[in-house]
Amino acid sequence: EEGLHATKYPWVHEHFSKTFDHQALRRGFQVYREVCSSCHSISRIPWRVLVGSTHTVDEMKAMAEENEYDTEPNDEGEIEKRPGKLSDYIPKPYKNDEAARAANNGALPPDLSLMVKARHGGCNYIFSLLTGYPEEAPPGATVASGLNFNPYFPGTGIAMARVLYDGLVEYEDGTPATTSQMAKDVVEFLNFAAEPEMDQRKKMGIAVITVTSVLLALSIWVKRYKWAPIK
Ligand code: HEM
Repeated sequence: EEGLHATKYPWVHEHFSKTFDHQALRRGFQVYREVCSSCHSISRIPWRVLVGSTHTVDEMKAMAEENEYDTEPNDEGEIEKRPGKLSDYIPKPYKNDEAARAANNGALPPDLSLMVKARHGGCNYIFSLLTGYPEEAPPGATVASGLNFNPYFPGTGIAMARVLYDGLVEYEDGTPATTSQMAKDVVEFLNFAAEPEMDQRKKMGIAVITVTSVLLALSIWVKRYKWAPIK
């Protein structure tokens, strides 16, 4: 069964000549950390990927150091704890899938690293999902126990309850943290997580188009110049 088709939103970062809004990425990462990260991992992202995109190198080093990681086993095979480094991956909320299911009524919160690419509808779908929980399921809808009604989720019964509510986080840049603002910011952040090289790729694309256009114009001019006496 298909879910309701997601509304198409005018995501600025999806435009071929636009980069990510890095202030939005910073807010979105805050939403991920303060809301989503208690259930969802983002296992493909090491702290260093965020340097220069959401945070400065010093900010990110400090954030990584707040987390404990296992050392490599020493000669006696002992594993100790050490503070995180930029090259470490952002830690997962659960040890393994069993622990994740146990904490979520049997449902597995999927890894969010590639979610924007993995789901049909991408940004539009995730935004619609996060903001699309009605106060009550519509009359006549059947919702299995332990599930929540969301028309955008295929099947409409989703194990994740509504998580975003107005004012849930406090943005340091003063942006009002409405439900839709947080959903927009976290979706942009998740898009960045899925393709951190996007800005670079677009800049390169524009450079390639510029250079080839100049070369094409030049070759047309040369061709006309050479053929002029014959015509
Ligand atoms: C599923 C996003 C917070 C638990 C999902 C899915 C997305 C998502 C995109 C996949 C839906 C699909 O399969 O199509 C987010 C975001 C969050 C967030 C962006 C933060 C803003 C949470 C929290 C919890 C949670 C805090 C736990 C309390 C789950 C579970 C599923 C799920 C259990 C699996 C649902 C199912 O398969 O029925 N989430 N989530 N999520 N999420 Fe979240």
